[in-house]
Amino acid sequence: MAVLETHELTAFYGDFQALFGVTFALEEGETVAIIGANGAGKSTFLKAIAGLLPRQATAVRLDGRDIGALPAYEIVKLGVSLVPEGRRLFSSLSVEENLLVGAYGRRSQGPWNLASVYRLFPLLQERRHTSSTALSGGQQQMVAIGRSLMSNPRVLLCDELSLGLAPIVIRDIYAALADIKTRGTSVVLVEQDLVHAMSVADRAYCFMEGRVSLSGRPRELSRDAIHAAYFGL
Ligand SMILES: Nc1ncnc2c1ncn2[C@@H]1O[C@H](COP(=O)(O)OP(=O)(O)O)[C@@H](O)[C@H]1O
Ligand SMILES: [Mg+2]
Repeated sequence: MAVLETHELTAFYGDFQALFGVTFALEEGETVAIIGANGAGKSTFLKAIAGLLPRQATAVRLDGRDIGALPAYEIVKLGVSLVPEGRRLFSSLSVEENLLVGAYGRRSQGPWNLASVYRLFPLLQERRHTSSTALSGGQQQMVAIGRSLMSNPRVLLCDELSLGLAPIVIRDIYAALADIKTRGTSVVLVEQDLVHAMSVADRAYCFMEGRVSLSGRPRELSRDAIHAAYFGL
């Protein structure tokens, strides 16, 4: 059974409609990529799941239960955690304090805690008393991922992890994602970087102008089909 589903999910910013009926499923243990051009609605989709935007009560389901009416903090408690675009760390806090913020309202069951996050990103342990503003972009991304993991999520929603990072750093972040997956955490991975997204995804959805324009297993999707679904050409 799907751990997370959306059914005909719509989302608005005021009068502006950003999502037009997105139907989606994430199986237990799966990594699913969401690709698409800038403005396609990828971040909006993650924010709507996470409870950061209004959505219909029955449009989002976790384990078959409607969660569309719940506020963001309840969604975290149920095991869905967002790594937001741009990392959004607390700049006045240290690495460890940022991680501990993520433990607020955590689920009691699951593999993630300070020790396992530090095993995943040993560099963060070395720098645990450092202010988050003194970190490189890649290190900040590790803190953002670690902070989300601290809630012990069943589903991790990742928004543009690789944005603005050097290739070698992206490689490390993606290696960590593989580890996260082996721990049983299901992952939704939003990326503009097709190559990286497709390399780790079990399945992918392409968004165009607020709709799913293509979906399938990466090896079943031809370059031409992806190109057409991505750019609408
Ligand atoms: N806070 C906002 N207010 C108004 N419109 C927004 C806001 N955030 C995003 N949008 C619009 O919603 C659409 C989808 O944006 P977004 O989900 O951020 O796309 P993506 O993450 O795929 O680049 C875009 O047209 C964007 O301009
Ligand atoms: Mg975005």
